[in-house]
Amino acid sequence: MNITPHENDFGAAIEGVDLSQALSAEEIQQIRRAWLQHRVVYFPDQQMTHEQLEMFSQAMGPFGDDPYVQAIDGHAHIVEVRREPEEDVPLFGGTWHSDWSFQQTPPNATILHAKIIPPVGGDTHYCDGVRAFASLDTATQQRLQDLSAIHSARKPYSPEGVKAGGGDRRSMTLLPSDAAHNTQRHPMVRTHPETGERALWVNPLYTIGVDGLSEAEGEALLSELFEHMKNPEFIYCHRWRPNMLGMWDNRCVMHSAQGGYAGHRRVLHRLTVAGSAPY
Ligand code: SIN
Repeated sequence: MNITPHENDFGAAIEGVDLSQALSAEEIQQIRRAWLQHRVVYFPDQQMTHEQLEMFSQAMGPFGDDPYVQAIDGHAHIVEVRREPEEDVPLFGGTWHSDWSFQQTPPNATILHAKIIPPVGGDTHYCDGVRAFASLDTATQQRLQDLSAIHSARKPYSPEGVKAGGGDRRSMTLLPSDAAHNTQRHPMVRTHPETGERALWVNPLYTIGVDGLSEAEGEALLSELFEHMKNPEFIYCHRWRPNMLGMWDNRCVMHSAQGGYAGHRRVLHRLTVAGSAPY
């Protein structure tokens, strides 16, 4: 297996392994180690059926719970992320987020397998929350360590949320629900359960406030942090190719899907790997 880390170590390409076959314990360990170290890993040229994709995902851990999006028929854990050439509704995953951070136990990993990739645009951008936290001054780090944020799916997935619109013009079936109004409290600085690293763990899509602060104070602090997290030093812009499989660590990375491919189709298959309660 050849692992080629990016120059700054955030992100790595992994080649020389066939993910459509059952992996040995040693291969799984190597992949997990690279994923923990580089946070975003991708495997070019992986032809995989739905069953093989499920087998790879399960080698990384049990399936996560994916609400508000309809899965593929007969494959309850695979969601097709699809956008048609003429589609004009908001992008799925277009706002920076960490997957399902509103859950009590958000997923450890997300896996995307690229099927149809437009000739331009459609990249995914990743933000390294460990670097974003490490670069804050000590006083801010200490202040954030003591704070918890409130997460909710309400902005995109409540019946009146931004993703609830679109109707027939949206090719993915989203399942908005009143349950999206529920809230979940999580530490703003998350300690990675496997590496011990601390990451800034808030995101513009699902983090709606700061526990113990007024709405205005919470919004001001969050906007400042979201601005900080957009610093190009923490960002990796990933270009997809058909049959490339990507996997990232939701415990320390947030991501956003990019547009820029009007007139072209984009299709990827997505699974999540179950996680644990942030601390
Ligand atoms: C997602 O947010 O899970 C999808 C990302 C993408 O489509 O690039």
